[in-house]
Amino acid sequence: MSDRFIPQAVHGLHGSIDIPGDKSISHRSIMFSALADTPVEISNFLPGQDCLSTAACFQAMGVDVQFADESKTRLTVRGNGLHGLQEPPHILDAGNSGTTLRLMLGLMAAQPFLTTFTGDASLHQRPMGRVVQPLSRMGATIYGREGNTKLPLTVVPARGGLHGITYESPVASAQVKSALLLAGMYADGPTTVVEPAISRDHTERMLAAFGVETQREGKAVTINPVEKFTAPASIAVPGDISSAAYWLVAGSIIPGSELLLRNVGLNPTRTGIIDVLQAMGANLTLENERESGGEPAADIRVRATQLHGTTISHEMMPRLIDELPVIAVAALFAEGETQVLGAHELRVKESDRLQGLQDAFSLAVPGAMQVAGDDFTIGGGRQFAAGVGLPSRLDHRMAMSFAILGAAAHGLTIQDADCVDISYPAFYPTLERLLK
Ligand code: S3P
Repeated sequence: MSDRFIPQAVHGLHGSIDIPGDKSISHRSIMFSALADTPVEISNFLPGQDCLSTAACFQAMGVDVQFADESKTRLTVRGNGLHGLQEPPHILDAGNSGTTLRLMLGLMAAQPFLTTFTGDASLHQRPMGRVVQPLSRMGATIYGREGNTKLPLTVVPARGGLHGITYESPVASAQVKSALLLAGMYADGPTTVVEPAISRDHTERMLAAFGVETQREGKAVTINPVEKFTAPASIAVPGDISSAAYWLVAGSIIPGSELLLRNVGLNPTRTGIIDVLQAMGANLTLENERESGGEPAADIRVRATQLHGTTISHEMMPRLIDELPVIAVAALFAEGETQVLGAHELRVKESDRLQGLQDAFSLAVPGAMQVAGDDFTIGGGRQFAAGVGLPSRLDHRMAMSFAILGAAAHGLTIQDADCVDISYPAFYPTLERLLK
């Protein structure tokens, strides 16, 4: 892992950017295609390490995954049907990816063979009880560290099969919901997940594309046992709004900037960043609005403008949780204060992002951030320190957020900068191009 210096963008950022494929949808495109019995061609797949971890796990279970070329953005997946996964000959490695692990725990709970999962140091720290506990209620048998809540985890075939349940999840989490929906496909009756707030619905949308309808009633979603998948011939993955987020903020806060972000997925369960930036006074224009792979998408033009502070409520969290680090950077450049309420989930991501922001901002912008429990306040308009090095904590979203901070302030060094490969391998080359 190497450090990387990000220079100040003295003339603003200009140009257009093709936004790479959505990470959540890329994972699901492999998982669902792997359960089909006809080939699926996937385009604009995200070639990030997380999605490649998912691809490798399914290859180990006998699924044919063929990438069209070196870029790994186009591939064909040939599965063996809903009951066609084979026992993997080795431990499955989810790498840094919570989505790979949590969704696959649900799927593996229904298989007639044993699977063991490992992952990197970060994933070993992350809470898996939130999926293991409800899956166990469905009849799954899962063993792991710390009371079966941490990696490594072993999923044993469920003796009496899986049973449909109604589960009231204490967290709004698409990973929990999706794990239960995947297990529910193989259960003996309907499975219902009720969430405190609606999490991203890519699983429900992709199930529909494979001919499986889920039923939504308010904050509850239900799946019935599934007999067969009717796979689409192709899936076009829309661009990832979580990756576009860095440019939405950079284009807003770096004076003189104008950027065109092409092909941004605009699923309403993901667009919290747009609502927040607009509430802060950002100049965003949607162009060319359309559908891509069962998801709304558009191009977004962003022009620099003076932002002002806002309040982001607890209810907003599921729609922007992954974007909060870069929203925090935007808040540093806004007039007045930005308040974020109830951001507990930030603490259990690839790193403790709340602590990571606090530590980094205390170096780069002393006095700007105040934390009280899971709430925090950021005051804009402070003095930026020059020549600081900020720890990424090997967390891709922290590294990219700090890169935008560096380009907007006086430049800075990001420590362990390569971790951006998890979700955005082209991030630094893109930033360098826009800086010219
Ligand atoms: C994801 C769900 C979210 C998100 C993660 C991807 C998904 O996590 O933060 O980056 O693809 O389902 P939670 O389900 O833990 O909220």
